[in-house]
Amino acid sequence: MSGGARRDFVIRPATRPLVGGVPVPSDKSISHRAILLGALAAGPSEVGGFSYGGDNVSTLEIFRRMGVVVDDDGAGTLRVHGVGLRGLCEPDGPLDCGNSGTTMRVLAGVLAAQPFRAVMVGDASLSRRPMSRVAAPLRRRGAVVEGEFHPTKAGEITPPLVIGPLPAGAALMESDESLAVASAQVKSALLLSGLYAEGNTYVREPLLSRDHTERMLKALGVPLSTVASAVELDAARFDGSLPAFSLQIPGDLSAAAFLLVAAHLVPESRVSVRGVGLNPTRAGVLDYLRARSASLTVEERADALGEPVGELHVAYTPLGGGLLAGELLTRAIDEVPALCALAARSRGRTEIADAAELRVKESDRLAVMASVLRAFGVDCEERPDGMTIEGRPEAPLTAADVESHGDHRIAMSAALLGLVADGETRVRDVACVGTSFPRFAGTLRALGAEVDVV
Ligand code: S3P
Repeated sequence: MSGGARRDFVIRPATRPLVGGVPVPSDKSISHRAILLGALAAGPSEVGGFSYGGDNVSTLEIFRRMGVVVDDDGAGTLRVHGVGLRGLCEPDGPLDCGNSGTTMRVLAGVLAAQPFRAVMVGDASLSRRPMSRVAAPLRRRGAVVEGEFHPTKAGEITPPLVIGPLPAGAALMESDESLAVASAQVKSALLLSGLYAEGNTYVREPLLSRDHTERMLKALGVPLSTVASAVELDAARFDGSLPAFSLQIPGDLSAAAFLLVAAHLVPESRVSVRGVGLNPTRAGVLDYLRARSASLTVEERADALGEPVGELHVAYTPLGGGLLAGELLTRAIDEVPALCALAARSRGRTEIADAAELRVKESDRLAVMASVLRAFGVDCEERPDGMTIEGRPEAPLTAADVESHGDHRIAMSAALLGLVADGETRVRDVACVGTSFPRFAGTLRALGAEVDVV
């Protein structure tokens, strides 16, 4: 979380290849959904491999505040005592989502249907993020959702979000939405509110965003049908309850992406990552690397509640730049900062487009990443929906002293650039890395990098 003591990364240039096999934290998106669906299921669910990233802990604590008992062995195995769709209790104060936009937006769909009022708050970064995208469609199906008036954008609201109550005897109505921007958070909020609705839920996206919610709901027997980037929940065929389940959460491909990029920055590196989620709607980074003839092997081994899982093996190969846009960009939305670091060392120009959404993530990732790249001496040009990066594979980057801007993925991407700089790099205020990859520095050290947390 970004609160607590200030900590910095100090990175020395790599003097040897990164070599080894390492695990990554459990998938952040799937972990949120596992806790949420476990809490709403009828009976106790077993969730293994939970990794205590700050964002997921926010979701867990919020359900505890609403009366869900979660036994936690402290080693990643949780028993979530589901209370059923209608068993949540009114919380006795605001629900703290910390840095987690997914917690706030996805949970909004569940809270919209409750007979009590709930308030969701977040940290400084989350408190600036746009919430109309989820509030407006929920209101259209009859929910009460209020936020703070946005000082510059007409019609926009920001946290805190005040949701509910749904009056006794009232029910959410049918929802038929075509989202302007692909968003798994908004889609998930609508589908989850649809579990409580009297009418069907239809969501269309311009491009298919990550589909974990659809896969998990289908695996639990909810009558969902999907065609391309459209999904329908048939209310009449839903029996009104979710069964308890058992799930080993796969590793996070978005965390693994930092290691895949690191292996392409430091010559001769050979890195393997075990037990990683391979959902194709998340795997844009793998396709981007494949399209550049990277030496990448993917061994699919298992399936966890509808999610493919496997091992990744990557060996350093010099790569060229190219285009990251369209559906590939949507499937690599969280990997753009790491791929910017890769672009700095890829031969020629890398063009990133269709990425305006990055301006409203944990930070304005286009502006912040452009300033980080420039601090390392990389030539880049920012545009409203992307940027152009001129890669220079040979010359070392200029060692830099940069701020994380409270954004975990910026902090980790800057640390990667430090591996190929001409001296010691400092990345300031990196406690935020704990939101998704608590052992990031230790994992890089295990591969042979020199990274200290000071
Ligand atoms: C997420 C959806 C994405 C992604 C975020 C996690 C999810 O956000 O960037 O890190 O778990 O649903 P959007 O829905 O805003 O695209």
